Amino acid sequence: MTPADLALAAKDGTVLTPAAEAPALSIRGMTVSYAEKPAIFSVDADFAAGAMTAIVGPNGAGKSTLLKAALGVIPRLSGEVSVFGTPLETARARVAYVPQRASVDWDFPTRVIDVVLMGLYRELGLLGRVRAAHRAKAEACLARVGMSDFAARQIGQLSGGQQQRVFLARALAQEADLYLLDEPFAGVDAATEAAIIEVLKTLKDQGKSVVAVHHDLATVTRYFDRVLLLNVRKIAAGPVAQAFTPQTLAATYGGRLASAQIDQLRLGDGAGLPTGAGPEAGAGPKA
Ligand SMILES: Nc1ncnc2c1ncn2[C@@H]1O[C@H](COP(=O)(O)OP(=O)(O)OP(=O)(O)O)[C@@H](O)[C@H]1O
Ligand SMILES: [Mg+2]
Repeated sequence: MTPADLALAAKDGTVLTPAAEAPALSIRGMTVSYAEKPAIFSVDADFAAGAMTAIVGPNGAGKSTLLKAALGVIPRLSGEVSVFGTPLETARARVAYVPQRASVDWDFPTRVIDVVLMGLYRELGLLGRVRAAHRAKAEACLARVGMSDFAARQIGQLSGGQQQRVFLARALAQEADLYLLDEPFAGVDAATEAAIIEVLKTLKDQGKSVVAVHHDLATVTRYFDRVLLLNVRKIAAGPVAQAFTPQTLAATYGGRLASAQIDQLRLGDGAGLPTGAGPEAGAGPKA
């Protein structure tokens, strides 16, 4: 049964979903600057619990920065963050994060199964021994992403899409309530993309919250319930049907998307949209 199934219909007909409760992730007044120019400026954003939300915006818009700063991985100039209504510090165990692939050092000599076991570090403790039950759990997570056959392989000896699946398996092992994924579909083939979206939809059906940075505008409508359009500032946010419009897309991407492409996106199937909607919004793998 999904959270939506459990939704209560109020007397006036509005539906009280878990989204009406504390957001999975709430960001207030967040500004982050690497140098003088802010990478994100004064962003307020609520990511609804029990929903799948896409973060969309051109390269350099600050999408990765937003996630990293929300998690405290990088410092912020200002901003408050809460997770399920409590400070991040008290809710860390409820959050799993899959970083953007390009940001991970793939040369470290670690087997796939050990990468997944890292997701269990809270259970294991710093010096905890890996027991059969832990290994079984890690193997089950690998199975969920279709990577069982690769458990003993070095992580660096996998293809990009396979690595992406393994890092998703590690996030699954954490048994978090909020999953933050930075471009989970970057550079993966159609089969892997379908496998990953299935895993994410299953998480949602279990009442979990998913936030994913997403570049393929053609699939936003199909994959996600909600969207945040970001370009240094928040441009728009809300249910896809309301926030993902020709106007908000134009405001987010400027002249980089032709209006004809934007019109096609609104049809929901992306028909006619070239892979990678323009030079700055490509869906493909990045160098
Ligand atoms: N470590 C860093 N030092 C300095 N500037 C940085 C650093 N990381 C990111 N930036 C800059 O901050 C801005 C936002 O970067 P960020 O990685 O958040 O963008 P993004 O929206 O995730 O882009 P992409 O779609 O390419 O992943 C960019 O202008 C980028 O050049
Ligand atoms: Mg990024």
